[in-house]
Amino acid sequence: MQIEKNLEIVTIAGTRPEIIKLSELVQLLSGWDNHALLYTGQHYSDNMKSIFFDELNIKPDYDLRCDTSDVGKLKEKMVEFLRQVRPPYVLVYGDTNSSLAGALAAKEVGSTLVHIEAGLRCFDLNVPEEKARIQIDSMSNYLFPPTELAKTFLKYEQIEDNVFVTGNLVVDVCRRLAKIADEQGRKDLPSEYLLLTMHRQENVDEPARLELLVKHLAGIKHKIVFPIHPRTKNSLAKYGISLPPNVMAIEPAGYLEFLYLLKNCKLVMTDSGGVQEEAIVLKRPCITLRHVSERWETLLLKANVLFPLYRRDSLSDVVDTMLATKIDRNPYGEDVAKTMLALIKEIAT
Ligand code: UD1
Ligand code: UDP
Repeated sequence: MQIEKNLEIVTIAGTRPEIIKLSELVQLLSGWDNHALLYTGQHYSDNMKSIFFDELNIKPDYDLRCDTSDVGKLKEKMVEFLRQVRPPYVLVYGDTNSSLAGALAAKEVGSTLVHIEAGLRCFDLNVPEEKARIQIDSMSNYLFPPTELAKTFLKYEQIEDNVFVTGNLVVDVCRRLAKIADEQGRKDLPSEYLLLTMHRQENVDEPARLELLVKHLAGIKHKIVFPIHPRTKNSLAKYGISLPPNVMAIEPAGYLEFLYLLKNCKLVMTDSGGVQEEAIVLKRPCITLRHVSERWETLLLKANVLFPLYRRDSLSDVVDTMLATKIDRNPYGEDVAKTMLALIKEIAT
């Protein structure tokens, strides 16, 4: 791999949500000399990676093709890369293993670390991403929480210097692409449907949880469209669990197709972080199939409610209540990438 030695800023991404959320900022940064997008390759399937680079019109300057979510291996590869470049600044997003490994690698080579989407907390340390968030925030030199609430959570951990509330990058990308997503409708969709996504370790790795999911879904009287994350697909196959007949399972959707599905659904049920955010931006009611969320703003605005799968009451009743929800506020700001670019320029010059 031929590596440019004079890079000033390296942005790290490794999974589907990072490609999506970083896309608008990366487009702006690439107009700036000496920026590179480093992709770890944690997500590697075409429908979790390439389709997003194509649709969002960015491409990685370097792809490490790590093909793993092992933090140690990801970090080792990134240290190798960063040692050759020694960029003064490294940007990481969110809470995945790629982000944690990128943050550790950046600190090891002495770069200044900027954490985008800092300060999110669900206050449950059994959630692997929660530990990653806390570690990344504690190592970061500059922190960009999306909201005042996330900034407050950082303050509770005595992190108060170099903290800038920026809004959430998801707003820019989902607003821009939602406008052109209308051409992405599938002919085989039910005329009215609920949308479902599910991939979190605590929900899909245990057969008992998956059985609970199936039971709750079967009790819902609406059709449900379910683009299935590979982790969930593997688990369903491994445990021989079938989905009920009201569920239409499809392959993971590209971003335009997913936004079409989200814009046109009656309601979304999810355990995804990004989907909770997009739901409120696009004014779709959301039920989060977890016992916690780090997207407090959406819960406080009543656009989102929690429904852990082990609850004994009926998910169908909660669906009926949430279908009547009207959403009128977006807590995540507007034109976020531009604000962030200005801030990064100020920091780096
Ligand atoms: C990862 C993140 C999670 C994030 C999610 C976004 C960690 C620990 N988890 O979870 O925070 O919400 O991405 O989607 O970083 N697989 C494929 N093809 C792929 C990627 C994964 O088939 O392109 C399958 C593999 O069997 C793999 C499994 O999915 O073992 C899980 O992938 P992994 O990257 O470990 O975690 P995610 O569940 O995707
Ligand atoms: N998404 C997508 N296709 C799908 C499911 C989700 O494009 O089939 C997008 C979704 O719009 C959001 C992002 O993927 O922007 C969320 O990623 P994911 O749920 O995998 O991760 P999380 O946000 O929970 O980390």
